[in-house]
Order: sequence, then C-alpha cells, then structure tokens
Amino acid sequence: MRLDKFLANAGVASRRAAKAIIHDGRVTVNGDIADEPGIAVNEHGDDIRVDDEPAALPDAYRYVVMNKPRGYLCTAHDPGGRKTVFDLLEGSPERLFTVGRLDRDADGLLLLTNDGALAHRLTHPTYGVQKIYIVGTRERATERKIGLLRAGVEVEGRHVTPDAADILATDRDGSRLRIVIHDGRKHQVKLMCLAAGLPVSRLQRVRYGPLELSDLPRGQHRDLLDDEVRALEDAVGLDADARASVGESA
Ligand code: URA
Repeated sequence: MRLDKFLANAGVASRRAAKAIIHDGRVTVNGDIADEPGIAVNEHGDDIRVDDEPAALPDAYRYVVMNKPRGYLCTAHDPGGRKTVFDLLEGSPERLFTVGRLDRDADGLLLLTNDGALAHRLTHPTYGVQKIYIVGTRERATERKIGLLRAGVEVEGRHVTPDAADILATDRDGSRLRIVIHDGRKHQVKLMCLAAGLPVSRLQRVRYGPLELSDLPRGQHRDLLDDEVRALEDAVGLDADARASVGESA
C-alpha cells in the first residue's frame, strides 16, 4: 500500500493532508524519514510513525455526524488553545478526522471518521458529492446579484459556479440563500458570495451528499446508522472492490 494511502486509512489525516505531512519529513518507516508519498509500505510489518507516534490501521471504522456549533475549529490541535470540534468528542478513543472542514464561524453538518478511503472520495470534487448551505447575507440579494453568482464568479483566480443558488427570504438587512456546491475550497461559499456583492453573516451546512442535518441538537453528535454509511459509500461508488484497489492508485 502507498504510504499516503496508509496514513489516510490509519486515520492520521485526509489523503491530501497526509501528503503534506510526508513532505514535511514528519513520517518515519522503520526508523528512516520517508518523504515520498508514493513509496510502498507493508501495513502489517513496517513500523510507521508520525511525529514518532505509531500509526496503525483502525480495527473498525467509525462514522460520526456532528452539528458543529460556531466558535469551534476543525483542526486536531490549535497552537493558540482555541476550542476544536474534537473537544466535543471527548471520550472517543478512535483517531477520527473531519471530512473536509467548516470555518470556525460556520455551523452545521460535520462528518468525522477514521475511514480514509470514504473521506477522500467525499471531499474530492471528481466524485461530485453535493453540499448544501443556508447562507445569511449582510446585503439584500437581488435577482441581478444571484444571476451573477449563478453565472459564476472569480475566486482567487478561478471561475467558480455553484450547482444551485436560490433566495429563500429577504428583509431590510439582508437575505437568506440556499447554495449548493460539489467542490470545497477554503472559504468557498463566503468568497463566492462576496464576489457577487453579498458578504456573508452566517453560514450553516445542512446537507452532505445523502446525509441531512435534521434535528441533531447544536453541539451534539451521533454515530451514523449502517444505512447512512452505505448511502455515503454508494454516493461515491465505494464498494468492496473499490476499497481493495484504491490502495494501489495515485
Ligand atoms: N464555504 C465557506 O466559505 N466556509 C465553510 O466553512 C464551508 C464552505
């Protein structure tokens, strides 16, 4: 199995983040620094460590959905000591990581797992998994501004279009929008709205692929039901064959 894939499956980080950790020289294989994500490792025999902590494949996968409150970071550790979503998971022995991220001031549906293959596919734009956000704006959304957004806006040198953008309500101070995207670059929804003249005051994710936030209380989390895990796997075509072969691909 490739080293980056092993680290993702071991729940150390997403596949993309695992590559960065490897390039940073934080990973050793049998005592030697391994700075090449593509090298083959033996997941059963090699001593693989990250920051000198042994990494191992999970005995069992775990899938958690959380209603993330505002004010929590989606990182494992914050050097500044700010609150992270992992503080809300206290008592969880597994090394879970977040499937993508929500900004500190955003709230709503957040998935956490130690299943690297599923997390990779859920976050990679190729698999087209849609995420739905309810967005509060500080300016009133006019049909002209929503038209601009739907046609696509320039964000950090890229032309980006939402899969859908609709006005749900408007009052004196601003509007409430429903925005659907299937890629997820940093601050994507906020930057898209800003580029269309609609600065964001509130951002809530209410759906991730087949999974809805529903009535999960803010700050609470629960394990996914088997059917919900299967629906996520189906959404990205991750069956047993794909799991067996994914370890060998780039
Ligand atoms: N887009 C954003 O701007 N922020 C998020 O947290 C998620 C999507």
